[in-house]
Amino acid sequence: MLDERELRAGAKIIRDGGTVAFRTETVYGLGADATSEDAVRKIFNAKGRPTVNPLIVHFASLESLFEFFPDIDTLTRKVIKSAKSALTVIIPRPNKIPAIVSGGLDTVAVRVPECSFARRFIKACGVPLAAPSANTSTRPSPTRWQDVFDDLNGRIGAIFKGPQTRIGVESTVVRINEGTIDVLRLGGCNTEKLSKMTGLKVSVASNKEHTKSSPGTAFKHYAPNCDFLLVRYTDDMTQRINDLVKGKKAVVLCIQQNKSNYPNARVISLGSTAKQIAKNLFVSIREGEKYGDIIICESFPDTSEFETVNERVRRASSGKVI
Ligand code: TXA
Ligand code: MG
Repeated sequence: MLDERELRAGAKIIRDGGTVAFRTETVYGLGADATSEDAVRKIFNAKGRPTVNPLIVHFASLESLFEFFPDIDTLTRKVIKSAKSALTVIIPRPNKIPAIVSGGLDTVAVRVPECSFARRFIKACGVPLAAPSANTSTRPSPTRWQDVFDDLNGRIGAIFKGPQTRIGVESTVVRINEGTIDVLRLGGCNTEKLSKMTGLKVSVASNKEHTKSSPGTAFKHYAPNCDFLLVRYTDDMTQRINDLVKGKKAVVLCIQQNKSNYPNARVISLGSTAKQIAKNLFVSIREGEKYGDIIICESFPDTSEFETVNERVRRASSGKVI
């Protein structure tokens, strides 16, 4: 365990080819030197991650990103610059990024975190950091250092003990295609906002396209150690959840306003706004699995601000939606 003031100790582990978990504005990442095949392999091993699932490469600043990839085209640069936080952009992969980082693809995902601690840490390392979310593969992403510890203790070099992450869901992954922004993974950067900020059309790929162009979206994700059932957003949602909890050791995840509607279950409130729900979602799934045999989760309104949390709970349910 490292205190966040021990930047140099963490950087030394990275430079010696090891792995270090650190916070970003979205979730905790498990970093390793993105230019070293051996270091990056340790990430896949620690997480039990399929090697065809590519990683995101993190930079300390826009300047260092553009210096490392001088060939990025003007439009892509503009998109990268437009979002302050939670945005990952796919670009062509030069040879100095080893193929293992990209799961063998000829592209690479890049991102500059907004979180100042993440930036300072990457800068201290002196190399870009390949970093997936710092959870065991298939588990909910970690938003607290304790979640990283629960999943990966003993399998990685170090964990920086920082505060809970601000946004709580991962970055939005996009690709620029003929002047349009294709969203390959919904995330912390809302698509409506992205369109406003860039002045470009934003299109969200269908599930099938996702799987083809962003391999990670094909795998099981965000799954707790207990059953997880998602309940559709309908007028009688509350009633249906109360029927479902009967006779079960159930935990209900719901919006704050509905907290008192489920007298026969343990209730965890996710908050009352889309932002609060995003921040609390993965923590609540990890808390829920500790005392429930089943987590029953509300769906959220079908609007742009809830697009990411709706997608995450759908994936956590592995298709068990009623
Ligand atoms: O917020 C985040 O993005 C966090 C923090 C640590 O930065 N990282 C993260 O990484 O969520 P990970 O590995 O859990 O998810 C990376 C996603 C996967 O869905 C993967 O398929 C996609 O990015 N991806 C990475 N490289 C890609 C590429 N070259 N082409 C298409 N998709 C790619
Ligand atoms: Mg992940």
